[in-house]
Amino acid sequence: MVVKKIAILFSGNGTNLQNLIEKLHNKVFDDTKIEVALTISNKKDVYGIKRSQKFGIEPIVIENKAFNSREEFDKELVGVIKKQNIDLVVLAGFMRILSSVFTQNVKAINIHPSLLPLFKGANAIEESFNSDEKFGGATVHYVSEELDGGEIIIQKSFEKTLDMNIDEFEKHIHKIEYDIFPKAVIAVLTK
Ligand code: GAR
Repeated sequence: MVVKKIAILFSGNGTNLQNLIEKLHNKVFDDTKIEVALTISNKKDVYGIKRSQKFGIEPIVIENKAFNSREEFDKELVGVIKKQNIDLVVLAGFMRILSSVFTQNVKAINIHPSLLPLFKGANAIEESFNSDEKFGGATVHYVSEELDGGEIIIQKSFEKTLDMNIDEFEKHIHKIEYDIFPKAVIAVLTK
């Protein structure tokens, strides 16, 4: 059996972080055991920290505001990740634009709350809800230098109905995220 270590990076509520830990941590898939070896938040006092602690995984807090540049922050992140021999970095609501210092040094995947390439950026849920698109959804993709632009791993959609309000729309998106994100991690680590 091989053990693959992942690091989960987050910035906020951490529902995807919790879902990933519940479904993947110390579980075996096709002879591959996945270990959530590291969780990192770029913000202190966010609820995701408590969620991680509940599973006995103490997050490392690296506040981006303590660094003078994007590159310096990314260098610190990469250093911490490399020290732990991480096989895959998983961005779960990590609300940072990453420089090449990060993207060229670690293999990472990201979840995004839209059907990429539609609605890149930080306001994807609101923008896709307010658009004329008939479907909403979520995408897991490799992290590249282009924001929300790396190769797509899994994408799933749902139909947007006229009676749906934005809260219901958002709930649908999260439900899809909790389904496809663990599957994408397993797919990447067992291929
Ligand atoms: C998720 O919906 C994720 O897709 C989104 O942030 C949310 C985090 O929620 N990420 C992005 O918008 C990245 N551009 P969570 O903290 O409860 O997992």
